[in-house]
Amino acid sequence: SAQWRGIIEEYRDRLPVSPGTEAVTLREGGTPLVSAQLLSEMTRCEVHLKVEGANPTGSFKDRGMTMAITRAKEEGAKAVICASTGNTSASAAAYAVRAGMVCAVLVPQGKIALGKMGQALVHGAKILQVDGNFDDCLDLARGLSDNYPVALVNSVNPVRIEGQKTAAFEIVDMLGDAPDIHVLPVGNAGNITAYWKGYGEYAADSDAGPARARRTPRMWGFQASGSAPIVRGEPVKDPHTIATAIRIGNPASWQQAERARDESGGFIDEVTDRQILAAYRLLSAQEGVFVEPASAASVAGLLKAAQEGKVDPGQRIVCTVTGNGLKDPDWAVAGAPQPVTVPVDSAAAAERLGLA
Ligand code: F0G
Repeated sequence: SAQWRGIIEEYRDRLPVSPGTEAVTLREGGTPLVSAQLLSEMTRCEVHLKVEGANPTGSFKDRGMTMAITRAKEEGAKAVICASTGNTSASAAAYAVRAGMVCAVLVPQGKIALGKMGQALVHGAKILQVDGNFDDCLDLARGLSDNYPVALVNSVNPVRIEGQKTAAFEIVDMLGDAPDIHVLPVGNAGNITAYWKGYGEYAADSDAGPARARRTPRMWGFQASGSAPIVRGEPVKDPHTIATAIRIGNPASWQQAERARDESGGFIDEVTDRQILAAYRLLSAQEGVFVEPASAASVAGLLKAAQEGKVDPGQRIVCTVTGNGLKDPDWAVAGAPQPVTVPVDSAAAAERLGLA
């Protein structure tokens, strides 16, 4: 059967492209929806993971980036720019290569995971490490795109949201309906905005897809405690968390996230770094799904909500896990026992493995 074609070809009639638009694509999307057995048992619900780390550059950003770069190319842009905590820059760098464009990225100095830096480097992006945080980087990127011939591909660019909403379409297509609850990590708040838009559009369209979503889920978003401006109700000047992807103090899509929360009857809460790391380890050790720490914030949040008695049994729940664990392997290695070294000797190996 045919290969998945990427989100623009798969959902062309639901995206702001014209019939003649040529997609700049790496065949992003079509990611696995994996049933989570332990999480289902723990919550007495039916829990699924939308594994966005399976995208071409290892995060959900590719869905928005195929749209942003496709449109930038169509409009004749020669260069694109973004601020990033790492994943947006990795994605922009890769799609810019496909489009033959220059890619500039602004990242907070010392605060992006090594794998993401490696991606931007190997795809040939022009990288500036900014002596500031993500929010400073975004201010700079906006100013540069206002004053110089370079297109902004952050999620403040509305076509990014359009691309990212396709994840909600895929979930409805696979489950045959929208879930009861959708759980997401929240950083700059573009993704929760995008999912809510996607679910809403499918629900409003009686002809939608092979499946029919007449309803929309409650949207549950989770920020890291040290970077939880929406929870606090005010910007956080010096955000901190080990989940560097969501280390953001003043989200660009703040109001849209609150709208998703309120219209869906959901909530936005916080999880501590300790809860994030516990969920990170549970996902890899118990579910076989290796994600980066920020991604585990959704699952940490679900478990927190369950402990607080907010999760009624029997519901269908989807947690988006946003990025691949290989992006930030330091956390996998940290605190884990060092592998032992053995001679080329089967008896010694068997003994060490506890087989003998
Ligand atoms: N998870 C991961 C792995 C991310 O990289 C991000 C955002 C989020 C969650 C939060 O999504 O911003 O739409 O609320 N990363 C951006 C970046 C900021 O630059 O890569 P959001």
